[in-house]
Amino acid sequence: MSFSSILVLLLAAFARCAGGFEVLYAGAPRSGTQTMYTALKILGLNPLHSGYSHKLRPPMCEYLYGNGTREKAMSLFHEYDAAMDEPTQLMFEDILEEFPKSKVILPVMDVEDWYVSEQNYFKDWAYPIEHKEVELADAVWKVPPNVSYDVWDAVWEMQYKSDFTLDHCWACRYWDCAFYKEQGMPAEQNQTCKDGYQAHMDRVKTRVPPSRLLIFNFSDGWAPLCHFLGRPIPEEPFPYTDKFNKDTPDVEALSTSFLQDGIELLPTPRGSEL
Ligand SMILES: *[C@@H]1O[C@H](CO)[C@@H](O)[C@H](O)[C@H]1NC(C)=O
Ligand SMILES: *[C@@H]1O[C@H](CO)[C@@H](O)[C@H](O)[C@H]1NC(C)=O
Ligand SMILES: *[C@@H]1O[C@H](CO)[C@@H](O)[C@H](O)[C@H]1NC(C)=O
Ligand SMILES: *[C@@H]1O[C@H](CO)[C@@H](O)[C@H](O)[C@H]1NC(C)=O
Repeated sequence: MSFSSILVLLLAAFARCAGGFEVLYAGAPRSGTQTMYTALKILGLNPLHSGYSHKLRPPMCEYLYGNGTREKAMSLFHEYDAAMDEPTQLMFEDILEEFPKSKVILPVMDVEDWYVSEQNYFKDWAYPIEHKEVELADAVWKVPPNVSYDVWDAVWEMQYKSDFTLDHCWACRYWDCAFYKEQGMPAEQNQTCKDGYQAHMDRVKTRVPPSRLLIFNFSDGWAPLCHFLGRPIPEEPFPYTDKFNKDTPDVEALSTSFLQDGIELLPTPRGSEL
């Protein structure tokens, strides 16, 4: 082996050690993932937000809930500096092990606040579409009031059963949540769902070494985040991003603009884009 080829190998090995995945945001969906995405981009990182590119989810879901390999799931993270949104938050232990210098950020977010935030996402996005469909179906087939909602719920459930590994791993299904139920989850499921959130938050706090964990209150802005990541504080104000909130004027127009931006949205049971 020539000296120059050894040098190339050494440089490649060095590049691999020097760079690499830096930070995982381990908060639940709807807990500030989009704001964190924007903030990390401003800091010069290249983050993966799985809600903006849900087609990247299958290898992770197959690893977590099916027969997928760890290697394939992990290979995704080698292409980014940071990650957030489901199911990446569930993979914090694998990530800490795969990237020994990586860190974890966990938001301070009470379970009730998170629940409302998750529920609002469905209220603002899924339900209006559902309402339109139900009105239409009711008028055409003269179905008794609200039978259509039960049908919708059944369609969602069927969807979950049809591809367990994938459907089990979004909309907090892994915590047995069913926010798609417009009439609300039954009390028992409600509790399982909240317990799942709480257990995740507790697990992150007990299993991530304190030196690698930032428990972050978004109101505190840049200072703790930049200190944790060893980066200078930017001039611009700390961002706020939520592309899926009720102030969004027109769901359809937004869907189109998302597609133009290359943001892929979640499929609905009808196969349309949400
Ligand atoms: C993994 O499981 C799915 C069903 O869940 C099956 O269709 C697929 O063939 C399996 N793949 C391998 C490599 O075993
Ligand atoms: C985050 O910080 C703000 C401002 O200091 C405070 O009002 C709020 O209660 C904090 N949130 C939590 C969940 O501790
Ligand atoms: C039908 O369901 C909607 C949405 O949950 C609710 O607002 C409405 O009161 C229900 N109507 C009847 C007749 O039960
Ligand atoms: C489920 O939890 C939400 C949020 O805490 C609450 O508003 C709702 O009443 C609960 N539903 C049931 C059936 O307990």
